[in-house]
Amino acid sequence: MADIMHYFLCLVTVLYLLIGVSGDTQSLYTRVGDNVRLLCRNVVYPNCSSTIWNYYRTGLETSIEEVGYGKIRITSDRAKRLEVASDCSLHVSDVRAEDAGIWTCKQFLTVGGRQEGGDAPVYLSVLTNSLSKPVADIVPDRPVSLKCILYTSDGPGKCLRGVTERIGLFWVGEAGNELKNDPRLQVTQTSDCDITLTVRVQKEDINRKWTCQLTVNENKEISIDFTFMAPGSRTSTAGPSFSTTSPSS
Ligand SMILES: *[C@@H]1O[C@H](CO)[C@@H](O)[C@H](O)[C@H]1NC(C)=O
Repeated sequence: MADIMHYFLCLVTVLYLLIGVSGDTQSLYTRVGDNVRLLCRNVVYPNCSSTIWNYYRTGLETSIEEVGYGKIRITSDRAKRLEVASDCSLHVSDVRAEDAGIWTCKQFLTVGGRQEGGDAPVYLSVLTNSLSKPVADIVPDRPVSLKCILYTSDGPGKCLRGVTERIGLFWVGEAGNELKNDPRLQVTQTSDCDITLTVRVQKEDINRKWTCQLTVNENKEISIDFTFMAPGSRTSTAGPSFSTTSPSS
């Protein structure tokens, strides 16, 4: 039984990007580590010299200008992960939970001049995963919690009010069945965007997959798979206790 202590958890993930457009609001759902493209829908100068990208989330005093007149602000903490595409959309690579927020594309034909047209906001939400304890501390029959939290522009686990999409988070088993409480599993949901699966890990759980599924308007959009792996079956035993596979997008 002792060998189970050395099993490590690996996350294998499948990405489905969702772009939902409703009226003037665009919503985008992604996962930590993924790359996303934020569409600028009000471009005036095709060379992007009129394009400003601002970032804001609840709690910030002001919005942050990440792109000014088509150029990445080099003083931005995110500068290395940002890129303005030829159509003035903004590419964000290696997405972090702190990138969740409202990204707004604005147009100014002259520096300091009047804004041309309206705002084109993109609401970016980021699905994150974490464990309640280091993998090395996982012991048979003791509970370990797999946390699945959606970060929105309102904060971690804060589902947006007033946005038209209906968000759902579920834990599903390998057969696609929604996991419910049983003697070994416990599902705790503190909000529509914050759900935790607590498992008493057993030997037979090796290679078993638990999936945190995000639905938007009842459609499956993105998911994160948690899989307990036997020791030695993966090369990445050092470093973080578990990892996500990055999509190539
Ligand atoms: C971008 O295009 C506008 C409109 O054609 C032009 O006035 C401006 O000089 C261009 N900016 C650059 C940096 O090429």
